[in-house]
Amino acid sequence: MNPCIRAVVRTGLFHGASVYGIKEGFDGLVRGEFEELSARDVGGIIQRGGTILQTARCLEFFERRGRLKGLRELNEREVEGLVVIGGDGSMCGAHELNEMGFSVVGIPASIDNDVWGTNMSIGVDTALNTIMEAVDKLRDTASSHQRAFLIETMGRDCGYLALMASIISGAEVVLIPEKELSLEEVGQKVVDAYARGKTHCIIVAAEGSRYSAAEVAAHLDDQEVGFKTRVTILGHIQRGGRPSAFDRLLATRLGVRAVEALLEGESDVMVGLQGRQIVTVPLEKVATTARQANMAYFDMARMLAR
Ligand code: F6P
Repeated sequence: MNPCIRAVVRTGLFHGASVYGIKEGFDGLVRGEFEELSARDVGGIIQRGGTILQTARCLEFFERRGRLKGLRELNEREVEGLVVIGGDGSMCGAHELNEMGFSVVGIPASIDNDVWGTNMSIGVDTALNTIMEAVDKLRDTASSHQRAFLIETMGRDCGYLALMASIISGAEVVLIPEKELSLEEVGQKVVDAYARGKTHCIIVAAEGSRYSAAEVAAHLDDQEVGFKTRVTILGHIQRGGRPSAFDRLLATRLGVRAVEALLEGESDVMVGLQGRQIVTVPLEKVATTARQANMAYFDMARMLAR
């Protein structure tokens, strides 16, 4: 998010606007935690993970009363437009604010890549690189010890991270919420890998898959599938670290376009990447449409896991 904040601030200043950062997202909006930002304030952050503005999950903003409080804070400071950077929940909040008559442009940022209207959200590429490095390292020890490794990635409702990670790291099995496999089916895949002479078996599982990592591992150990199983839950390391080159460029392009859209009088839109272009899509559609992993990649992963 930091390269995005930098781009938003500097684009606004370039066009003669004053730019304020709001601490902790909608939480800070409701509490009136605004801070004017200069070009210097966003210097030296393009390479930093996380967000200098910090973030929070704000339940109050999902109530009309909370949103009204936020609206009052914006009006008191004569703010004319708001850029909201975040996942599907943030895009819903942004749309609601627009419904109350305030100009808003959204920017998708969520490692889950579950925001409709953009091929990629900010953070996804960096997270995927983190997962890929972890799986590469785990495969070394898996091969040396002839083990099965079950590696859990983030992804509550969307298996994008697990699916892509399974392809780019050559996993034998992938488990995602969009395609429910039974424990028996998972066990059979591991047995098959062992019978084909593999020295390891890598299973990448999204956290939102049908069975927890512990349940799958217990089943595999029970069934004597050939390999001994170990579990690694990657957890929050996936949400930190230096942003990748792709993420820095994407975040910068989206930040610039969001401010330009606001200044051109657009509202109730989200900026997104489609093909090689940055486009605007209606926030209402973003707020009401769930994006899930593309199952063509599931078939590809299955074909290549030989
Ligand atoms: O929505 C992004 C996400 O990273 C999910 O993949 C994960 O389930 C969730 O956030 C974790 O949230 P928290 O940090 O609040 O536990």
